[in-house]
Amino acid sequence: MRKDRIEHAIRPYRSEDLPELCDLVNEIIRIGGTTLLETPFTVSGFVDHFFNQQIMISCLVAEDEGGQILGFQVLSYHEQLPDDWADISTFVRASPRLTGVGTALFAETAALAERYDLAMLSAIVRAGNVGGLAYYEKMGFVPRKIEKDVPLASGGRCDRVFMQYAVPGDHNRPRVIRETI
Ligand SMILES: CC(C)(COP(=O)(O)OP(=O)(O)OC[C@H]1O[C@@H](n2cnc3c(N)ncnc32)[C@H](O)[C@@H]1OP(=O)(O)O)[C@@H](O)C(=O)NCCC(=O)NCCS
Repeated sequence: MRKDRIEHAIRPYRSEDLPELCDLVNEIIRIGGTTLLETPFTVSGFVDHFFNQQIMISCLVAEDEGGQILGFQVLSYHEQLPDDWADISTFVRASPRLTGVGTALFAETAALAERYDLAMLSAIVRAGNVGGLAYYEKMGFVPRKIEKDVPLASGGRCDRVFMQYAVPGDHNRPRVIRETI
């Protein structure tokens, strides 16, 4: 159920949020069909996956007036991206379903990306994730590439869509160019 927009604050995550963030993403994993993630996390597995595998730039959370976390968005440098690009992932609480959380998160993340002089944000979205694709398009991302028949841990396969957002600003400084994903 999508409820009316409610007031929410965006702030950096705190370590005490971790169990709630983990539950939030695990619920989305259990529902299935949207995220490419398939196996629910323990809290330490969550930290490894989202914060330690790559160099994290930011993890912002949306919180309601009662302190419940409504969603989170992680921005990380990624070994398969150029040095001034970042990978982004977004998860909004599945129940109760609210509107506007993803938009509010991206407003802050995009401002951070500009402040850190990032040139491009890259999101990998499962093909068929209608909400995820529509969300990133609405935020200004454009689909750049489709990777077909990517094997999943469950044994199935799916296509992945690479979406990119050009961060506004002057990015003319020298860059190290690496192969992009
Ligand atoms: C995708 C996701 C982050 C969107 O968050 P959200 O809080 O619902 O987004 P918003 O309410 O701010 O919606 C912003 C825009 O996205 C689009 N959108 C969001 N969900 C949509 C859906 N289910 N169907 C179609 N469009 C959708 C709409 O254009 C919407 O604008 P509008 O409200 O003016 O119509 C959220 O649904 C989610 O966590 N999904 C599961 C995980 C996932 O797929 N993450 C993305 C890949 S990492």
